[in-house]
Amino acid sequence: MVKRIYVFENCPKEWDATVISMGNPISGSNPFEDRLRFERRVPPCAIVIFGANGDLTQRKLIPALYRLAYERRFPAGFAILGNSRTPMTDDQFRAKMREAVEKFLEDSPFDAALWDDFARGLFYCSGDIADPAMYAALKTRLGEIVSERSTGGNVLFYLSTQPSHYIPVVENLGAAGLNHSPADNPGWTRIIIEKPFGHDLASSNVLNEAVKQVFRESQVYRIDHYLGKETVQNVLAFRFGNGIFEPLWDRRYVKHVQITAAESIGVGSRGGYYQEAGALRDMIQNHLLQVMATIAMEPPAVFEPNAVRDERAKLLRSIKIMKPEEVHLNAVPGQYGPARIGGEDVPGFRGEKGVDPEAQTDTYAAVTFFVENWRWAGVPFYIRSGKRLAKRVTDIAIQFNDAPHTVFETAARGPNLLILRIQPEEGISLRFLSKQPGSGMQLRPVSMDFNYGSSFGERSPTAYETLLLDAMAGDSTLYTRQDMVEASWKAVQPILDVWSATKFELPNYEAGTWGPKTADDMLAQRGHTWRNP
Ligand code: BG6
Repeated sequence: MVKRIYVFENCPKEWDATVISMGNPISGSNPFEDRLRFERRVPPCAIVIFGANGDLTQRKLIPALYRLAYERRFPAGFAILGNSRTPMTDDQFRAKMREAVEKFLEDSPFDAALWDDFARGLFYCSGDIADPAMYAALKTRLGEIVSERSTGGNVLFYLSTQPSHYIPVVENLGAAGLNHSPADNPGWTRIIIEKPFGHDLASSNVLNEAVKQVFRESQVYRIDHYLGKETVQNVLAFRFGNGIFEPLWDRRYVKHVQITAAESIGVGSRGGYYQEAGALRDMIQNHLLQVMATIAMEPPAVFEPNAVRDERAKLLRSIKIMKPEEVHLNAVPGQYGPARIGGEDVPGFRGEKGVDPEAQTDTYAAVTFFVENWRWAGVPFYIRSGKRLAKRVTDIAIQFNDAPHTVFETAARGPNLLILRIQPEEGISLRFLSKQPGSGMQLRPVSMDFNYGSSFGERSPTAYETLLLDAMAGDSTLYTRQDMVEASWKAVQPILDVWSATKFELPNYEAGTWGPKTADDMLAQRGHTWRNP
């Protein structure tokens, strides 16, 4: 496994004192001498965030950037220029971002002195992103900031707006000449695009085409935050860093694979967006197909961005495309209804704010995919995700074949199960049968466990920390590529088409349960059952 390691350049002297005196977990000694952690150099750069007043910026991006500064992984020559329509001064923007960091910073203390240093690099430029004149103003502001903050010619744009703005922003960046660095200040220009990449295959192709007119593919970083999760990266380490498991990793030994991303919360304030998206688009088309690709891809020859992405893309292209008549057997939508959970009344999806009381949206989706290649022919990949399920858990369960012949008299058969726990209790467990103490030969399932927290005893970076730093370092390994996005839309498009033409009896599961019964029936056709963690 390649450990993703970074160093920041030209760290201001005062950060040393601040960070060390506050007992930063990584800076007990001089961090510059810690070669293991600081292998990769991140150059100075300016990050321009479109949608800077939005939820993602406040919840994820700024806390991640602050945390990188806290961990001394951020270049001193940095600037963050936020844009949104709301008029604000730089200071008002800084105050707002401070509030967000104090509220959303996970697992870390807030340090006021460090914040003051960090906040000096925050700037704001209000304006309508649909207005070409705004880009002229942005360009001037960026020019001033670049020289004030010595960020060199390196600029990273981040599209964190409503998806309907992606194409206008990209076109306006191109028209303003902001898609490359100025001749007198050479450097790189990159753009991070948040999901969703389109609403379906056709609109995703239109978006890709528009992006291609303005940016080269090597400049484009399509973010799928699941790929930045430590535990998803660890799947690669587990598979390709060890010799034990890979020989078992195919249709001869694996009976089926289950990938579950269950959330216990509802749609909250995102009813409007979610009503148009649904679980299949929101989670399966992107995050879970990327996880499936990581589990099922062939080993890359080298750990380099395109070598790894080529293998993921190949796997996604090998997913069997369902015929319309196969969809009902292999894909199940669900929608949560109201329930009383923990003494509280929880609304059904149709009762959530901003949601049409007749909405046909899937807040749950379960799909059986097959991979058409030699390694996986005939092995079902069961993938499901839903809101308001019994608990929050994301994991991958690889179910191996039973012993071919049982010599013991026992009620307990198999299963030999390998569970890769993505969140919240990150780790890996192998389940097998063991002899129960005592006379006779009674067998019982037991488990061998690896737990991230206790084995490494340190905090893992969040997905956004990892991915932002990767983009600054020019490493696109964990970003998706146009061909991958297209292949995953192709895999779900027949389901979207059939579902949009069908009227389902919804809601069909109660909030706080494991989803609709029809999803159990889908597995029962092949004699399988969901493993409800
Ligand atoms: C987002 C989806 O991409 O991922 C959300 O839009 C979902 O609906 C979220 O809640 C889940 O991410 P995580 O990291 O909390 O599992």
